[in-house]
Amino acid sequence: MRLPLVLATLVAAPLAAQDGGQLYATYCSACHANDGLGATGGQFPPLAESEWLRGEPDRAIKIVLHGLSGPIEVGGRGYNLIMPPQGAALPDDQIAAILSYVRTSWGNRESAVTPQQVADLRLATAQRDKPYTAAGLLKQHPIPREPSALRNLTSRIYHGQWDKLPDFDPLEARNIEEEHDGRISVTHADREDHFGLVWEGEFVAEKSAVHRFRLACDDGARVVIDGKELLKVDGTGPISADRSDEKGIRLEAGAHPIRIEYFEARGHEDIVLAWKLPGGTSRWHYLSESETGPNRGGRPSIPIEPTPERAAIYRNFIAGTTPRAIGIGLPGGINFAWSADHLAPELAWTGPFIDAGRHWTARGQGAQEPAGHRLVRLSRTPAFPAEARFRGYTLDPAGNPTFRITRPGVVIEDAYRAREGHLLRTLRSRGEETRTRVLVADTGSIERLDDTTWRLSDTLVVRIAGGRPEFDGRKLHLTLAPADSVTLTYIWR
Ligand code: HEC
Repeated sequence: MRLPLVLATLVAAPLAAQDGGQLYATYCSACHANDGLGATGGQFPPLAESEWLRGEPDRAIKIVLHGLSGPIEVGGRGYNLIMPPQGAALPDDQIAAILSYVRTSWGNRESAVTPQQVADLRLATAQRDKPYTAAGLLKQHPIPREPSALRNLTSRIYHGQWDKLPDFDPLEARNIEEEHDGRISVTHADREDHFGLVWEGEFVAEKSAVHRFRLACDDGARVVIDGKELLKVDGTGPISADRSDEKGIRLEAGAHPIRIEYFEARGHEDIVLAWKLPGGTSRWHYLSESETGPNRGGRPSIPIEPTPERAAIYRNFIAGTTPRAIGIGLPGGINFAWSADHLAPELAWTGPFIDAGRHWTARGQGAQEPAGHRLVRLSRTPAFPAEARFRGYTLDPAGNPTFRITRPGVVIEDAYRAREGHLLRTLRSRGEETRTRVLVADTGSIERLDDTTWRLSDTLVVRIAGGRPEFDGRKLHLTLAPADSVTLTYIWR
């Protein structure tokens, strides 16, 4: 007797666990390809070594259940496509089997997914009726960093003025630290120009193979592995294609002593160091906190920008100012960072505001560089007398901020908005008969142009209406009288 087809399936099903590979071939490979590299020559995003699969499986489960649309970066490449939802077609155990297969294939080494995990998220997201966006998912499930291949890393800091890499050995280190996250970084707050750093530790090779290393730096650096110099970028200058070095070295599986030397002469400071295995599918793995360069290897870019109607605010570490700084992006590409520690606008720049990729995908380590151009540092010390306190800020309907500062008996408002490509700042004092001296700028190249106009840098001048500005050759101050208001216009040239 022949069983009816339906019954035969029912009998057979419990015997075989869901075959993830088979299901993947049926439901995913048309777009992501059998080798996980993305169908039609990589027009679709890869699942092999995709950072979107890293860590908890929630991100991937949600994508499969409800689909994904809009811009996304995978492995340093951008896509802007639509993945249709699969939740209605696939039961929990099949999604679990597919994602377990995907998370353990093609170099991915993540945990398996259980049907219960899928069932929980299906229930939790039952109300959802449209695909996810990459930015939305990142906020809910930030991508953890991959572990660094550097172990037992220490850093020594040296002070000195160099135009080329010095011989560090005879020099005395000012400070020695252990770098527990296994990443090299030069973006510590409050670090002045003229310093050197030497990191020492072990690079752990997982397999015996030719490893390619890439170094880019501002200013100079070199990398020594197993006692031999592998990479070197000497002299001073910003990071560029000319100021980078890339070479391969055969390493046996296991730990190899590594030493990285770096010096900062002046201006910006940064170092980027990455390695990869040979072969087209392998991507760069970063040993540095910074991940700039042609392939940022898994840190999606999330630009934050104001809309034409409303300013954008960014409250997270911003490179070049104090830890408690508030970034404001005004419409028209006028941006500044206001330090709540120094009660002052410390940085101002034009163009793109900031990229939140670092903080939303890397658990908030490090400080984000402003994204735009013509960055000017206005000051780096407290702007008000010592007893002044920060009392928060308010936003008007267009998002323009007013910061409030108090001194005994006095309330000072420090308000900002953009006008015709300039940054307009109004300082107002209310309260008793007390004058308040306010620092406007203390960066190196201030120059008086006329009674009301001061050049703060090659690109920025400030016009001060009221406040009797005083310049002592180094610092520019103004004085705020009671019930007075002073307007400052910052003009980029
Ligand atoms: C019809 C084509 C198509 C199918 C079928 C499809 N995907 Fe996708 N998938 C895409 C596209 C396109 C994106 C990127 C969407 C975007 O640009 O926002 C994507 C993105 C992803 C991502 C996040 C980005 C990445 O590359 O890691 C994951 C994870 C993913 N898909 C898993 C799957 C799984 C698992 C299946 C099978 C159950 C599947 N997809 C089926 C087209 C598809």
